[in-house]
Formats: sequence, structure tokens, C-alpha cells
Amino acid sequence: MATTTYQGLEVLYTREQIAERVRQIGVQITQDLAGEKLVMIGVLKGAAPFLADLARAVDVEATFDFVAVKSYAKGSRTSSGAVKLIKDLDEPIEGKNVLIVEDILDTGLTLTYLRKIFLQHHPKSLRIAALLDKPSRRIEKIEADYVGFSIPNLFVIGYGMDFAERYRNLPDICLMPPDVSE
Ligand code: IMP
Repeated sequence: MATTTYQGLEVLYTREQIAERVRQIGVQITQDLAGEKLVMIGVLKGAAPFLADLARAVDVEATFDFVAVKSYAKGSRTSSGAVKLIKDLDEPIEGKNVLIVEDILDTGLTLTYLRKIFLQHHPKSLRIAALLDKPSRRIEKIEADYVGFSIPNLFVIGYGMDFAERYRNLPDICLMPPDVSE
């Protein structure tokens, strides 16, 4: 899948490919919202670059909020299974059009948990945008409304995504080399 390299890492999606896909998703969201306002809720920290770019690709009035969850042990490549909210919403979402913005839909545990608690607040609508989707890893039955790229079971870094908090600022989405320790 990967063809080019950046800083010795194999690039899965270049910054140009990401920008084009984000632009397309922005157009789709704009159409779906049909002029209504939007609350974009980023899942920290990995979704920050995606939210920043996607927000500028949608042509609707949008506000931001952020939540943080803990679902991965630091540096681990496998989910612990438990999801805990460590930063809640700042503003009420009742009656609002909500878009959860996430970097990767993997097992689905995180988004299933967030969807459940957000629905308890009775938003007008609740949609999910995930930059990457790894359908083969799914434990919970959940799909995103907008997916950037669907990928096989690969561990990726860059464009917000980390390994033990490293590599988030890589401009491209790269493959994690198998031989790097924390
Ligand atoms: P889920 O709850 O298993 O769907 O996990 C979602 C979270 O796992 C993502 O938001 C990421 O933080 C993390 N994650 C899953 N796969 C990767 C990966 O390939 N690279 C970096 N983080 C990942």
C-alpha cells in the first residue's frame, strides 16, 4: 500500500491525499447539514489536526468542543477494552446538530461509548466523522457517517495519530515501523 517515504517512514497517505479527502468530506457534510448549524466535537488528542482541517472544509456555521477519553494504555498497540471520559463537553448539545470527529474507528469501543453518552443529552442529530476506519478490527457494531480512508489492520502514525505520544505532528499518515520501542 505505502509507496513514498517521509523521514524514513513509509507513507500510507500523503498530505495532499489527506487534504483532498478532507475537502470531499467537507462538501458532503455541508450538503447534509443543508444550512443548519453544527457542533464539531473532537476526540483529543488524535483528532485535532483532522478537526482543524475539516472545520475549514465545511461551509456551515460551526462551533467546536472537545472531549478526551482513555482507552489505550500508553504506548500499547492494543485496546485495554475499557473507555473512560477524562474531559467532558464544555457546552450543552441538546437540540444541536453534533458531529463527533475522531482520528480512527478501530474496535469501535470509544465511539460506541461516546455516542451513548452524547445521545443521553438529546442532540437534534448525531453524526460521526472518522478519518480512518479499520473495519476488520471492530468489536462493537458501529459505523461512521463519513470515513476518510478504510484501511486494513495496520498501526499508523502522523496527522494527529501517535505511538506513545510521538509522531502526532507528522504531516502525512505513515506506517508504524514494527521494530520501534517506546
Ligand atoms: P477504538 O476504541 O478501538 O475504536 O480506538 C480508537 C482509538 O484507538 C483511536 O482514536 C486512536 O487513538 C487509537 N488507535 C487505534 N488504532 C490506531 C493506530 O493505528 N494508530 C494510532 N492510534 C490508534
